[in-house]
Amino acid sequence: MDLADLTRDLEALRGDALASIDAASDAATLEALELDVLGKKGRVTTVLRGSGALPAEDRTKVDAIANTVRQAIEEALAERGTTLRGSELQTRLAAEAVDVTTPGRPIRRGTLHPSIESMRQIAEIFGQFGFVPYESPEIEDDVTNFQMLNIPPDHPARDLWDTLYVDVEGQLLRTHTSPGQIRVMQTEKPPIRALLPGRCFRYEAIDASHGSEFFQVEGLMIDEGTTMADLKGLLDQFAKAMYGADKKTRFRPGYYPFTEPSVAFDVECLVCGGIGCPACGRSGWMTILGAGMVHPVVLQYGGLDPERYQGFAFGMGPERIKMLKHGITDLRLFLENDLRFLEQFR
Ligand code: DAH
Repeated sequence: MDLADLTRDLEALRGDALASIDAASDAATLEALELDVLGKKGRVTTVLRGSGALPAEDRTKVDAIANTVRQAIEEALAERGTTLRGSELQTRLAAEAVDVTTPGRPIRRGTLHPSIESMRQIAEIFGQFGFVPYESPEIEDDVTNFQMLNIPPDHPARDLWDTLYVDVEGQLLRTHTSPGQIRVMQTEKPPIRALLPGRCFRYEAIDASHGSEFFQVEGLMIDEGTTMADLKGLLDQFAKAMYGADKKTRFRPGYYPFTEPSVAFDVECLVCGGIGCPACGRSGWMTILGAGMVHPVVLQYGGLDPERYQGFAFGMGPERIKMLKHGITDLRLFLENDLRFLEQFR
């Protein structure tokens, strides 16, 4: 090997390497090329191994040529690298492009179940009069559900509540929220203004206005000197807040064992405005709840002295309250969870 051979080999190597660099299509190929040509055991080193036998003067020349070849290759590598990285970025950008003008997917919004919504509306109205929500158990004992509410065992009034019993002696599924009155009286000191919303259960033949599972909202107010006039004023305000300030209301005598006197509370028919139509049984009125002055016996069971304290209670079905408001005629819709029904309350 003489100077001419080595020079030719180095030039050939340069031409070959530059062509390969030009043809490289990605960064990985370029890296492999760099190692293959310029690496420690690369092709330049291999060629230079042949220069060992040359005179010192020629070796310097070969080294100089080798340096320019290396430099040319390095520059070509760097340049091609920049180009490739640029186009790789372009490709990625194109592939991952986001069309910011595409309309967004609408997020489906849930709503409160109409029973729950109704209970919240009721709680909000009575909340403005200082009534505070309480919870009481769904599995209740016979004593609290009936006896302390002045309904002794074997009393015919029990027929008003067809009861579902559980497998534990003396326990049942509460048939109404009224036992909550006893629990509140036993734990709170008057003045009491309590609201007891909750699920109730009855052994019912299911039809458009009866279910075996439904909600009630119970109200209880106890203080010294509470009168029927307070009850009438409060319920009238409630009906006006729920159905409209222009709505007429009336009280009729009713019967409940735990109140004396007891009343049924009516609002003018929301369909005909009081003229009389099929919706109100031609009476012009719709009953929305039962109420009355808490019976002295019930106060005593609650641990309160009836000589000192008086109070009133009321109980309503939030589904019924909503049915009247929206002209819904079938209670079962509240339990079936048919979206076509539920979505109307958005
Ligand atoms: N607990 C009664 C029922 O389920 C509703 C009721 C009526 C509650 C009169 C009361 C009341 O607090 O005073 O039918």
